[in-house]
Amino acid sequence: MSTIQNLMWVEKYRPLKLEDMVNQKPVVERLSSMLKSPNEMPHLLFTGPPGVGKTTAALCIARAIMNDYWRDYTLELNASDERGINTIRERVKTFARYADRRVDIPFRIIILDEVDAMTSDAQTALRRIMETSSNVCRFILIANYSSAIIEPIQSRCAILRFSPLEEKDVVEYLEKICKLENLRYEKQALSLIYEVSEGDLRHAINILQAAATIGKIDLDNVKKTTGISAKFKVNEVVNLAFKGRFNEARSELIKLIRVYGMLERDFLKYAHDAILKMKLPNAHEAAEVMAKYDYRLIMGAHPEIQLSALLAELGKIGKEAGLNKEE
Ligand SMILES: Nc1ncnc2c1ncn2[C@@H]1O[C@H](COP(=O)(O)OP(=O)(O)OP(=O)(O)O)[C@@H](O)[C@H]1O
Ligand SMILES: [Mg+2]
Repeated sequence: MSTIQNLMWVEKYRPLKLEDMVNQKPVVERLSSMLKSPNEMPHLLFTGPPGVGKTTAALCIARAIMNDYWRDYTLELNASDERGINTIRERVKTFARYADRRVDIPFRIIILDEVDAMTSDAQTALRRIMETSSNVCRFILIANYSSAIIEPIQSRCAILRFSPLEEKDVVEYLEKICKLENLRYEKQALSLIYEVSEGDLRHAINILQAAATIGKIDLDNVKKTTGISAKFKVNEVVNLAFKGRFNEARSELIKLIRVYGMLERDFLKYAHDAILKMKLPNAHEAAEVMAKYDYRLIMGAHPEIQLSALLAELGKIGKEAGLNKEE
């Protein structure tokens, strides 16, 4: 593992064995019993929300089956990558050509992330590859929703559904990390991290690590940290507004202010930075509009009303810039 990965707690604390995973009990039980006779393991389809252990479980399986050799016999690909399907086809061909299997390696494993982002044509091609290569490869497909996966693939896989993690699970895991890293922490700060990360353990660990760089894990430091990550959410609000999706943009904006506690003027400042970075043809109009609302906020006008009006104006500017074409 490289040093950078070591510095990232999400990697440092990624479990290496299925039994060390947080919760996901039904999934872990089924997978553990499959591991008793790996030769009979079917292709797998993992579904579930972000950051709950799907990739982690896939890597645990590869490790359990192939021990020290797992890296050589495991291929991790992102299916939404345009070259995805061709890369898979090529790799599978190479696997099949050189049947250089070690006695204790029953097959290679291809872990394919974001399968739900593949077009149905690409999925049909994938299905064919899965069929012709099953003597040399097992696929572990990963998706957020199984509904976006074509039926013939679903029926060829054992489907394992990962659940969102509960507050108790997340808080306990964060506590464990705090102890290992010798951090001082308040339990309610860990609960706040859970709330903000909505059951996504990756996000939770990242917030914890960012808060730890400020100092003690208390409510204040966690709020400061989530303020930083909320900055990225401002980008999302701005993009929705530009696309003319006013209602969605407004409800995200309100969430930022009321749930994340972002200050209205900070919202405007982050939005300003984000918009100027986009180098729109009509950036000057956007700059004028933002200056207008900045002034109104200083003068004490109602912030939510003003920022909603700003989003509406951004919609017009986005339209002129050609940003609100139907997706
Ligand atoms: N169930 C879990 N047990 C222990 N750690 C977990 C669990 N789920 C997530 N993590 C932590 O969060 C990080 C991300 O998890 P993982 O990559 O498995 O998420 P994922 O479900 O594949 O998410 P995505 O859909 O975003 O790819 C891991 O490195 C690990 O530190
Ligand atoms: Mg993943």
